[in-house]
Amino acid sequence: MQVTKTVKETRDLIKNWKREGKTIGLVPTMGFLHEGHASLIKRCREENDIVVVSDFVNPTQFGPTEDLEAYPRDFKRDSELCESLGADVIFHPEPKDMYHDPHAFVSIDTLSDTLCGKTRPIHFKGVCTVVSKLFNIVTPDRAYFGQKDAQQLAIIRKMVQDLNFDIQIVGCPIIREEDGLAKSSRNTYLSEEERKAALCLSRAVKAGQNMICKGSKAEEVLTKMREIIEAEPLAKIDYVSMVDALDMQSVEIVEKDVLVAMAVYIGKTRLIDNFSYEV
Ligand code: PAJ
Repeated sequence: MQVTKTVKETRDLIKNWKREGKTIGLVPTMGFLHEGHASLIKRCREENDIVVVSDFVNPTQFGPTEDLEAYPRDFKRDSELCESLGADVIFHPEPKDMYHDPHAFVSIDTLSDTLCGKTRPIHFKGVCTVVSKLFNIVTPDRAYFGQKDAQQLAIIRKMVQDLNFDIQIVGCPIIREEDGLAKSSRNTYLSEEERKAALCLSRAVKAGQNMICKGSKAEEVLTKMREIIEAEPLAKIDYVSMVDALDMQSVEIVEKDVLVAMAVYIGKTRLIDNFSYEV
């Protein structure tokens, strides 16, 4: 496996492989890799000749009061994991090689003003910008994203369609701890007590799934989910919402495919979880 630090060396490697007719798969990450990321890399390994993992804590997707500095990093462990999973390249640029101020932004405003976009107004603009740059640098045939960040996945699909990126976007299921908590690099912020409290998210997801399968109305489902979370003293709801799976706008009746998504503070740590329901 090769470690690349600059845009130029990454491009040069990939150009050679493309000349040989090889297919390229990309897994964008912010590092501190866990089994959720590993599931994307494994799928990418199965479906492409060349696997590129990007490992970059992207400053433009963090708000001024968010955890950019504190975001966990362990590049040595990340590169060992990528190597063990058969990746060909791990691209680990410095922010100064990715951004030269002032620089252009890409934003897909229509899907970015609900759910996480309300609390994190610049977040998806930063995500779309860095993912566009990674697409242009790596020129993958396929790129892999987790359902864990369901709104991000929907926005990336829309961006690819709107801006004519010739890239297949592959969505991959949420990987959870044995007790149900969705794997996340941010779980490392949780104290022992908070770690237990964080289970209210996956408990709410399970209850919501059961109710929606039995035909309950949106408001009943959301009320039950909120009750489960509010019963946990360390939890504070940012949002628990049901939205149309395509346009991310609120729905009251489940008659099309929906996304039921939440963001909850456990102490100071903001965690997200969700499930999709196909009609
Ligand atoms: P990051 O949070 O590191 O996640 C990288 C990818 O791993 C995302 O597609 C995310 O949805 C997926 N992922 C994270 N936890 C997962 C889990 N438990 N199960 C399945 N997939 C999971 O998302 C980002 O980074 C950034 O916004 C990025 C797209 C890299 C742009 O900077």
